[in-house]
Amino acid sequence: MGSLGGARTVGRPAGAWRGIVEEFRRDLSLPADAPAITLREGNTPLVPALRAGRGADLFFKVEGCNPTGSFKDRGMAVAVSGAVAEGARALVCASTGNTSASAAAYAARAGLPALLAVPAGDGAVAKGKLAQALAAGARLVLVRGNFDQALAAVRTLAAARPHVALVNSVNPLRLEGQKTGAFEVVAQLGDAPDWLCIPVGNAGNISAYWRGFCEYRAAGRARSVPRLLGAQAEGAAPLVSGRPVDAPVTVASAIRIGRPASAHLARAAVAEADGRFLAVTDAQIIEAYRFLARQEGIFCEPASAASLAGFWAARASGLIPEGARAVCVLTGHGLKDPDRAVAEGDAPLEVEATAEALAGVLPPGVD
Ligand code: F0G
Repeated sequence: MGSLGGARTVGRPAGAWRGIVEEFRRDLSLPADAPAITLREGNTPLVPALRAGRGADLFFKVEGCNPTGSFKDRGMAVAVSGAVAEGARALVCASTGNTSASAAAYAARAGLPALLAVPAGDGAVAKGKLAQALAAGARLVLVRGNFDQALAAVRTLAAARPHVALVNSVNPLRLEGQKTGAFEVVAQLGDAPDWLCIPVGNAGNISAYWRGFCEYRAAGRARSVPRLLGAQAEGAAPLVSGRPVDAPVTVASAIRIGRPASAHLARAAVAEADGRFLAVTDAQIIEAYRFLARQEGIFCEPASAASLAGFWAARASGLIPEGARAVCVLTGHGLKDPDRAVAEGDAPLEVEATAEALAGVLPPGVD
């Protein structure tokens, strides 16, 4: 503990962001003596929408700016800090990719080995996420099954082994960390927004945001709490249909989940928030994904764009009224899924290396 605990003050300029464990420690239920295992996660930008708002006052919480490119780093920092405090000797998780990428990095930071179980099969996990896990030297295991089956397997594995820390969002410290996204939104806006739109897969993050907003209202740091819009992909929408999905399908592989582990928490949150779960099609997700990159300059992964697709659907139905202040949580970076970006992009042109050749392919209307 000593060496890890001491490391956090080394080379820290005054005023620099210390990561969520230190910045929010008094608001986290983490053992007081837990070290901060941190990559300086959190403090992500809240970017105003220029063109996507459709008459509402819309902002994007750009969680792709976290150290491993997704919101998972908030939860992982706290979960791994807690695991180290409890003497864990290894980390395990199941994942559609981002949890494994984050677990791999924080395991490296903590000096612990990690076992990551992800679904086998072409396109089951986006390439950037696999690359991150491999780069960090984690033990990456492709399991013959979907995410839900992989999660059931690692839960059973970890339950019988006290020194193996399960870092999926069924670990309460994960949600503790992720609630800090709500804290930041309140700080950035001066209060909670009217609506928070967020993609839902295993249903941990929406539950965490709700906890964060409620805690800030209770502490008098926010006057209100938002209504919640939980966006699921149509082929993986158990919280919309009310029934588990045995074979979830969607282009948004991050949220290809049929039996969300935190379904009970998410249902309670949406009920208390007078919110809604809503299904969006893959075509709506890709439309939002392209719009974000091309019209807003924000490159996120497809699952993240489900939040904007859900927001648009809710604007169209009038559920979110004109002038409402809304935040879409863009959960992961676009580079996570390079194959999708290339598939959606225009084919590059190839020309001779001359000014004349380039002049011939200038954008229309430019001479
Ligand atoms: N967006 C992205 C980019 C995700 O990776 C996930 C979940 C979600 C949204 C949904 O969040 O599960 O808390 O409802 N990814 C998990 C993983 C399942 O293994 O990386 P949730």
